[in-house]
Amino acid sequence: MTSPASTTRTQVAIVGGGPAGLLLSHLLHRVGIDSVVVDHRSVDEIETTHRAGILEPDSVRLLTDTGVYAAGQERVLTEGDRHGGIYLRFGGESHHLDFEDLVGASVWLYPQTEVFVDLHRARVRDGGDLRYGISQTAVSDVETAPRVAYVDADGAQHEVLADMVVGADGSRSVCRDLVVGNERFFREYPFAWFGILCEAPKSSSELIYARSDRGFALISQRTESVQRMYFQCDPQEDPGAWSDDRIWSELQHRLAGADGYRLQEGPVIEKSVLPFRSFVQTPMQHGRLVLAGDAAHTVPPTGAKGLNLALQDVKVLAEVIEQVMVEGDDAALAGYTDRALARVWKAQHFSYWMTTMLHRGDGSSEFDERRQLGELASLVSSRAGATYLAEGYTGWPQ
Ligand code: PHB
Repeated sequence: MTSPASTTRTQVAIVGGGPAGLLLSHLLHRVGIDSVVVDHRSVDEIETTHRAGILEPDSVRLLTDTGVYAAGQERVLTEGDRHGGIYLRFGGESHHLDFEDLVGASVWLYPQTEVFVDLHRARVRDGGDLRYGISQTAVSDVETAPRVAYVDADGAQHEVLADMVVGADGSRSVCRDLVVGNERFFREYPFAWFGILCEAPKSSSELIYARSDRGFALISQRTESVQRMYFQCDPQEDPGAWSDDRIWSELQHRLAGADGYRLQEGPVIEKSVLPFRSFVQTPMQHGRLVLAGDAAHTVPPTGAKGLNLALQDVKVLAEVIEQVMVEGDDAALAGYTDRALARVWKAQHFSYWMTTMLHRGDGSSEFDERRQLGELASLVSSRAGATYLAEGYTGWPQ
């Protein structure tokens, strides 16, 4: 084997430079722990891949209270939109759930791409070692002295030698396979989401989660002139087979009701089919390797828990790594999985529950349809029911 073009020694090698990897690198930097971040995607690719857009208050605090922004420049607060609730729409009527009234909390509409931009900017500002656009990432020796090898854009081989390695490498993680003796839990769903971005004015000031006889639809927003919407579709659906007219007709049908509600239409500027599944891998640590975010768990997008869960993993992980590196407390590492999974399974249930309550199942019977309407009616007519949803949506305390 030829010797690498460069060898870098660092305390923590982070595989994956999305929001989770970058937030971890940022939090570690704050306590004097150095890291190197590697990612096979380019910065531009990450900035233009659309993901969910809802942040729990704890996630917002992780951005505003840890020095990501210069004082007074908290973009999440100035560019994001505070949402005090959501609408559940079924039987052709909208029902408002007021989170402020129910649980004294709001969420923020602030797209994941913007969270990435802010964290990336903060790491660049603070001199972070970030290596995007690399390939052939290979992680080895995770039980003793972790090594991350990769090839740069010019074809040269490099290596990073670290005391610990973090797999924040998303739902197609290579790191998770290195957890020896892992157990994996999954649930597949017989549907996916068709997601669009369109140039149109807002159709609603807050999100609308709609259940209809034709399946689920979600009305979200991005800016005053660009909106994000989704509708339940077949996982094999071909976005190319959907003209703008067909998309609008489907969305209008799913939102229609006796109140005469209509969506504001406009040109569709992006369309894609989003996969849908629930997944958990345990443990989230093996030797000197730990996993964070989608690498260890995936939730369906109903309820927008994915990014929030990843950021909470990172919050716990930053504490754990500090205990290991600064205090030499290796036992903290072994406790990480249980600390992270306590929240992960609550979020798994919440996302599964929101999904099954609002989507049309395969071959669903008249009984299933009416039961589903009964569930939604009991939720919106009961303060206890509505509070349960509000608590899950805004996030549980740590
Ligand atoms: C989004 O705005 O993209 C979004 C919002 C809420 C969800 C999923 C996606 O539950």
